[in-house]
Amino acid sequence: MNRRKFIQRTLFGVAGAGLVTGLYSWQIEPFWLEFVKMKMPIKHLPDGLVGKTLMQISDIHVGKRFDHQFIIRSFNKAKAFNPDFVVYTGDYVSTHQGKVQYNELDEVFGHLVKGKIATLGILGNHDYGINWSESHVADQIAAKLNDQGVQVLRNETAEVQGLHLIGFDDYWGLNFNPQKAMQNFDSSKANIVLCHNPDVCDEDVWGAYNSWILSGHTHGGQVKPPFLPPFILPVKNRKYSAGQFSLSNGRTLYINRALGHLWQIRFNVIPEITLFELQKG
Ligand SMILES: [Fe+2]
Repeated sequence: MNRRKFIQRTLFGVAGAGLVTGLYSWQIEPFWLEFVKMKMPIKHLPDGLVGKTLMQISDIHVGKRFDHQFIIRSFNKAKAFNPDFVVYTGDYVSTHQGKVQYNELDEVFGHLVKGKIATLGILGNHDYGINWSESHVADQIAAKLNDQGVQVLRNETAEVQGLHLIGFDDYWGLNFNPQKAMQNFDSSKANIVLCHNPDVCDEDVWGAYNSWILSGHTHGGQVKPPFLPPFILPVKNRKYSAGQFSLSNGRTLYINRALGHLWQIRFNVIPEITLFELQKG
């Protein structure tokens, strides 16, 4: 092979590999789904909840640039696990694309996965509309969730069979008030905090809190080159990409990689639904 042919073939090879990677990242990986199974040891967990399952679903992002049927298909797969608790950690819609697609949202909400014991949720920044500044959008999404039997925690705590689920309203939204959310916190009880944006973990709001914090928001960056961190993460603390983190004062953070996406591109960050098994900590 002469030099010219060698260069030609190399260029074709690189272009072909780029095309295949692009097609994969656009049309295949965004529509995969991984059920991540984890143990969740919780201090002071009541005996009756040992072995129960808690499913976390995050960032479904119903919007006009995304086939919401993928979310419905994923919900139907999730229902086969018959979870005891289901928690939704925000961003039900994509408001960077303009008006909320309420018709599609209603269709998706008609298929929500419910827990046998309880179903709870919090709001994310996109649920606050354009520039995270439309409280009527947040109120409407919360009302629709409540209508579907999802108890939305807006700086509130729900106590379910001795498990205290503390829901923070969104960090970038109009109603962030962790002091209010934590006002009934009792370290002698079993606790889980739901908090959309993991950056809140670095804020001075935690006091003696020493249990789990479930977050979403980052989507794992959506594109992660092998052995390198993701290029784009919407957080100040860039270590908060995805997965489990041990934090100060005995706190454990888990960041779900999201089920939906803002832009239809994913590479090496497969959409996730997490299934925790509750254990005594
Ligand atoms: Fe999101």
